[in-house]
Order: sequence, then C-alpha cells, then structure tokens
Amino acid sequence: MGKLSAQTQRALAIPENILALDADQMRRLGYEVVDRVIEHLTTIREQRALTTGDKDRLTAQLGGQIPQQGSSISENLAILADIALANQQHGDHPRYFARVPGPSSYPAILGEWLATGMQSVASSWGGGSGPSTLETITCAWLRDGLGLAPSCEGVLLSGGSMANITAVITARAHKGAGIIYLSDQTHSSIKRGLLAIGQPADHIRTLATDANFRLSPIDLKAAIEIDLESGLHPMLVIATAGTTNTGAVDDLPALADLCVSFNLWLHVDGAYGGPAALCTTGRSALLGLEHADSFVTDPHKWLFQPYDIACLFVKTPGALERTFAMYPEYLKDVAGGAVEMQNRSLELTRRSRAVKLWLTFRSYGLQTLAAAVERGIGLAEYAQYLVEQDERLKVVTPAALGIVTFAGVNSDADDHVRAAARLTEDGYAAVSSTVLKGQTVLRLCTINPSTTTDDIAGTIARLAQFLTRS
Ligand SMILES: Cc1ncc(COP(=O)(O)O)c(C=O)c1O
Repeated sequence: MGKLSAQTQRALAIPENILALDADQMRRLGYEVVDRVIEHLTTIREQRALTTGDKDRLTAQLGGQIPQQGSSISENLAILADIALANQQHGDHPRYFARVPGPSSYPAILGEWLATGMQSVASSWGGGSGPSTLETITCAWLRDGLGLAPSCEGVLLSGGSMANITAVITARAHKGAGIIYLSDQTHSSIKRGLLAIGQPADHIRTLATDANFRLSPIDLKAAIEIDLESGLHPMLVIATAGTTNTGAVDDLPALADLCVSFNLWLHVDGAYGGPAALCTTGRSALLGLEHADSFVTDPHKWLFQPYDIACLFVKTPGALERTFAMYPEYLKDVAGGAVEMQNRSLELTRRSRAVKLWLTFRSYGLQTLAAAVERGIGLAEYAQYLVEQDERLKVVTPAALGIVTFAGVNSDADDHVRAAARLTEDGYAAVSSTVLKGQTVLRLCTINPSTTTDDIAGTIARLAQFLTRS
C-alpha cells in the first residue's frame, strides 16, 4: 500500500464546504438580486435609456489587482448593479429605439434564473433529456407559430450571428462549396462569418438592392447565370426577412422559385423580423417563409427573451446532425438517445436556452405574444404618422416590421448623427442614425410593447427640435 503524498494530504485537508453558503445566506442574497431586478423593471421609465461610462473611471471602480481574499457578496452585488450594469444600453427601456431593442419579459427572466440556478444543460440526451425535450418542443412551437415548413428541425444558439453562420456551414456541407449570393442589406455579421469560415471573398456576390431595399430576383437570376456560364458552382442565396436598416423583406416566393430551378439552398435571415410572423399583420409581410431551406430568428430581439437566444431551423431532417455530429469515446455513455443537441451545431457544452422560451410560451400563450408583437408594428406606423404631420421632417422609408426611417427636411448628414447622439446623451431615449443608399437618416425600432404613444411623440418632437437647432 502506497502512502498519500504530502501534497495530496494538504489538498484533502481543504474543507469540502469551502465555496458553500448556508441556506439563509443564499436566500437573503437571492432576494437582494430579485429586489434589484424588480426595482430596475419598475423604475425603468424614469431611468436613462443608455449610459456610456468613462473607461478609466469604470476600470478604477471595478478593477484593481486580482482579489486574493473574498469580500461581502452583498456589497459586490451592489457594485455590479450600480456601476457595471448601469453603464450600458437598456434594450428593455420603453424609449430604447436604437439598433435592435431587447424587451425581455419577466417569465423569460425567471426561466433564465431557474435554468442557471439548476445548471441546466442541453448537450447529450443521456445527460440532458429534460432540457433537450424542452428545446425540441419550443423549436416546434416556434416553427408552427411562424408557419415554417413542418419538417424543420431546430437548434438554439447564442444569437443571429452564430445561427446564420451555422446555417451556411450546413448548406455548404450539403451542396458543396460554391458561390453565395446576398444583398447590400444583408446583416454585416453574415459577411464576417462567411470570411471566417473560409468562404473566398471572390465567391461572395453582394447584389445591390432595389429602391425598396430588397434583393432583386431579376438581378439574382442574371448573377447566377453569369456564374454558371463561367463554370462556377452557385450554391446558396441568403435572403433577409426584415432588414436591420429598414425592415424590408426580400421577395421570398420569387427567390425560392429561383433556388429550386437552379438547385440552390435558400437561407432566410429573420433574426430581426422573424417573430413578426406570429401575428396576422406580420405574417402577411413575411409570405413564403415555408420555402426556406434554413431560417434564423432571434427570440432575444422580438420575442421578449433576455440575451442570449437565437433559433436556427433546417428543413431537411437530419441535415444538422449530418453536418455537426461527433461521437468521441468519452461521450458514448450519454449519446445515442432521442436527440443530441450537441450534434446540431459547434456547441458541445450548452445551457438550456429553451427553459426561458418554454416558460414564456406557456405563461402568456401565443395569442398574447402575437398581440405584443403586433403592437410593435403599430408603434412604427404611429411614428410614421407623426413624422408626416411635422413639416420639419420627412419619411424616408415607411414603417415596415417595427422600423421607420426619416430625415430632417433641411438637415445634412452630420445634423442627423448629432441629433441622435444628443438625444441619447440626454438619456430620454436612444435612437440610431443609419445610411440608406448614401443618405443619412434617423431610425426608430419600436418593438417594445410597453412603449407608449407619448414615448414615440416625445422622441420625435425632440429629434425634430435638435435637427432644426443644430
Ligand atoms: C437581420 C439581422 N441578422 C443578424 C443579426 C445578428 O444577430 P446577433 O446580434 O444576435 O448576433 C442582426 C442583429 O441585429 C440582425 O438584425
């Protein structure tokens, strides 16, 4: 019998409860977190929509040498809430209209907390049958709610960037490497992702959009034919269902016809606009989703979820597994069950993002969620109406899927950028400027159902004032 080494004996002398807290302490601290979150949610209207801190100041407040000894958890929670988390955009603020808001809902927050507290995992079936079942079910609910093809299988990922590129990897595995077609309104993360996965830049065709910021099927057909004549292999079309700039939706039925006749994979990026298909108005703007070979939508944008959660659907059953499955020796004990979520993307260890979405669907029901989405569409239409009433302003692109863009009648590009920055600095609201075919505009994204018509009116009135004064 050997002897335990001195080092092993030292290690075993460390008490096993070294990280443990007692139940009362955990409860008290947990309630502190709940209280802080409720305070945030119930006073949000009086808070700033976005705060950007000073780098040196934040580093001084939050940094220093690596802590050698522990300190009060309660005090540290206060530092996190009051300093770190106070200096950010509040995508859940009713007057946060910039980029894409993230109006998360309380059941979804609860789901996230519960999943975190119970170390949820949705990787293998053997090690996560419950969470894996939740993911299969919520993806199917979402698929059916959006009207996607019934054969679609889903996987939850961190966001649109990862989900879109996972779709492209899947398409490439099935069609072989080739030319990829997208538009000048395709989200920038997709082009970045394409280059990152080794797609040669000269095998990406970025087609100019038409006057309505949509990919033209005529131009697409011409581009495919030119590539075929050159002996190249057209492989994938990336369409957008709700562009980030204007909410434009590509002509999905026409693009789908082209993809069928030339044997191309059709991927639809509905990261932003996809959830609109839950309501009747949105569904009619998003005709043809069922034709997509793959489709992405982000519940952390317009389906009231805390970050992060995106959903990728692929129409051909088993296509994701054929692309991503691996069966290493040390996972054999847990693999081979009903569904292996670890084999549907590049993520192995993955928390259950489905817990929060499942709880949201169950708590509100589809009808309420659809109504909340529909309100966002209506708010952008109301914003358009107010811009039309104001002689200092003009609409540039009409309300589409919760986005409206407009400009000052007598303002130049810098005026718009300054007006957006000034409003954001004031803290009343946060809005974006963007550039549409060379024209700088102001843009509101109005998908937070708790936004009031007064919030919209107050924001537009201030912007009109800043534009004329600047
Ligand atoms: C249309 C579209 N696609 C993709 C993305 C990227 O999504 P994420 O930021 O979740 O990675 C966005 C983000 O705004 C988007 O609007």
